Amino acid sequence: MNSFGQFLRVTLFGESHGPAIGVVIDGVPAGIPLAVGDFMEDLARRAPGAKGTTARREKDVPEILSGVYEGHTTGAPLTLIWRNEHARSEDYERLKDIPRPGHADYPAMGKYHGYADLRGGGPFSGRMTLALVAAGVVAKKLLQAVSLEISARLVEVGGENDPKRWDALLDECAAKGDSLGGVVECTASRMPVGLGEPFFDSLESLLSHAVFSIPGVRGIEFGDGFAAAGMKGSEHNDPLVAVPGLTKGEGTVAPAKNGAGGINGGLSNGAPLLFRVAFKPTASISRPQQTYNCRTHTQDILSVKGRHDVCFALRTPVIVEAATALVLCDLVLRDRAAMERPF
Ligand SMILES: Cc1cc2nc3c(=O)[nH]c(=O)nc-3n(C[C@H](O)[C@H](O)[C@H](O)COP(=O)(O)O)c2cc1C
Repeated sequence: MNSFGQFLRVTLFGESHGPAIGVVIDGVPAGIPLAVGDFMEDLARRAPGAKGTTARREKDVPEILSGVYEGHTTGAPLTLIWRNEHARSEDYERLKDIPRPGHADYPAMGKYHGYADLRGGGPFSGRMTLALVAAGVVAKKLLQAVSLEISARLVEVGGENDPKRWDALLDECAAKGDSLGGVVECTASRMPVGLGEPFFDSLESLLSHAVFSIPGVRGIEFGDGFAAAGMKGSEHNDPLVAVPGLTKGEGTVAPAKNGAGGINGGLSNGAPLLFRVAFKPTASISRPQQTYNCRTHTQDILSVKGRHDVCFALRTPVIVEAATALVLCDLVLRDRAAMERPF
């Protein structure tokens, strides 16, 4: 469904080429200073413009419809919208019958019996992550109160981890009408011990849920990740070491390395959170690909037109930060609620 979180509940709505997209954030405490300007730094990090990103240009400035009065949150649901002003729907006419390989077109045609508005990717578009990033800004603001900081960066493009090689790779790939994927690494520092609600709402379950909601994610690994399967226990375990000056219950011990990515038993263990996210190469490529024509019921060849990111992973670090912030904020609020109202 389109909502996530229990104590900070976020609902996304809209379609890429409809009138607008937006987000409703419920559970934001009253009295938090908030203005349109607070969103712009993170939204600019997601915006296209760099080499390898789409030519679609939207202003990305949110309109606040509810939840803010005289510069502070009111406690009512916070509603933000962005009008879609730079859509070019004619690029998508042919795709009504001819689904793009690798995109959501084909399964969405089946699920919604042809009624879904799939222009520009519709609700499956990367544009929806604009609203996610904005929700992340609010969550990050709340997390500042517990000094928790989240930071994500791109560490790999097209299998290459040397950033100096990325521009050439992108040029080479764009010239061939093809696309590239990438890997984002995310950390959260000053993590408290014990965030997470096992069994099903373990910290890594919730993070994976939120991260996999971002379009184009193909994998997530925490700490040593898949490599842990080939390691000895003595290599993968994070030794516990005393931290001078801290008292019991405040983190007397902290892992010296971080093979677990800061999570054991579905709970944060006091070490920084550390995980990596794999993004696939963009599905919409101009290089001809085999597909199926749903009108003529014949095999067809598609060369995707329109404005697409050669490597949308370039725009995703701030989106991963937002998904992480929503999870951590929700868990911090759950923790506080449990402490304030003991059974
Ligand atoms: C910021 C962002 C921008 C994206 N831009 C494009 C794009 O230009 N063209 C495209 O085909 N997919 C793009 N995607 C990926 C698609 O939205 C995604 O592949 C599609 O919804 C199918 O979902 P799946 O890849 O998770 O299966 C983008 C994703 C993100 C997060």
